[in-house]
Amino acid sequence: MDKFEYFSGLPEVGIVPRAPHVGPLLQHVHEQEHGRGGFAGRVSHTYHLYPPNNWLPGETLVVEDWAPHWESPLRPLGGVHHALGVARPPEPSDVYRGMARLVANATVAMNVTAPTAPMDYFFEHHSATLVVFVHEGGGTLETLFGPIAYGRGDFLVVPKGIPHRFECAAGPQYYWVYESFAGDPEKSEAPTTGQFITHSRSDYRFPRTLDTRNEAGRFEIVSKVGSVYTRRVHPTHPFDVVGWRGDYLPYRFAVEDVRPLTADRSHVPPSGHTVFTLPGCYLCVFTVRAAEKEGMWLPFFHRNLDYCETIGYHWGDFFSRGGVIREGMVTVHPVGLPHGPQPAALQVFMDGHRPTLHREVGIMADFANPARISEYALGLSQPDYMQSWGAYTTDPRFTHRAGRLGEVRAVAEGLADARDELRPRSDTP
Ligand SMILES: [Fe+2]
Repeated sequence: MDKFEYFSGLPEVGIVPRAPHVGPLLQHVHEQEHGRGGFAGRVSHTYHLYPPNNWLPGETLVVEDWAPHWESPLRPLGGVHHALGVARPPEPSDVYRGMARLVANATVAMNVTAPTAPMDYFFEHHSATLVVFVHEGGGTLETLFGPIAYGRGDFLVVPKGIPHRFECAAGPQYYWVYESFAGDPEKSEAPTTGQFITHSRSDYRFPRTLDTRNEAGRFEIVSKVGSVYTRRVHPTHPFDVVGWRGDYLPYRFAVEDVRPLTADRSHVPPSGHTVFTLPGCYLCVFTVRAAEKEGMWLPFFHRNLDYCETIGYHWGDFFSRGGVIREGMVTVHPVGLPHGPQPAALQVFMDGHRPTLHREVGIMADFANPARISEYALGLSQPDYMQSWGAYTTDPRFTHRAGRLGEVRAVAEGLADARDELRPRSDTP
């Protein structure tokens, strides 16, 4: 025993050798490496009671139509905004069999699942790291590295290849599931604002409780590579891990731990609310925050020329949508097509009303060009969403009138050079 205690350079739990690949312990436990980048990237090692490839001979088979909506055909997307209603699977289905694809580009996909049945298998995604957002529900995510309890408003990051299983609690469950095919999510932070905005790595919760299973039986693992689903059967429980070490790990991150950047005098653009960057996508959280005290507190009209925007509406008032969107819905705004506040919201702004708080939580995932939408998503699309801006063509406040140009010229005489109230003044001591 050393006189003092020390941290090692890598997280570790349980029984592990002094270093990967070395020492006499490896004659008694079975080391497995989980490595990215062709053994040159991030890596973890798990130490098992039994060899991890002890599958039963002759029992491995490709399963056809295992998760049909997950493979919903993708269609080109453009020129029309979509608001997707809340998905309800027609038959009892578990987290993965009931998964339905909504939007995808070459490197990232967004899916939805509303499980009502337990998983009687373990799952490994061999093509993607998963970022799950729990819109509704909770339970325990059982993983090779130990269990992670989760609830409403949690992100769960499950790295590519890691065996896991959702043990859902009683009650409704509704998750948005993002697949990242080309890399793991990276924490977003701007060089000028540092590592604690919009959250801290100390907010991540990695499993630390090993739940080692020394059990015999028939344990099914379903893996996914692209659209190929394969089932294999093992005679021992896959979570026979007595220890692990490394930094390639699943974790939980609570949306309530997002501490957003706000600005009194300018509207922070959506990208300022990014929490994770993925190859070809960035994930943002619009959360409860102080409203701007001056200037635009609504989003400006905009067209995003390189990204298709999706927002999953989790909780709140969704001020800019003018009451059109309910919790659980997803909007899809394709590249290039202008959008912005609904007329009712813009009227509130023009009338000079200003909230003190933005009371909303929305999860935005923006997909780099080209993005496509699934047939399943088109089936959820609300036919009247494009009409939600319709008052811009009927409300006299927004429609053509002969004197409009003159009005703007007149008002600009006094307002074009108007200064902020909050600025430092030359007459202030
Ligand atoms: Fe937008």
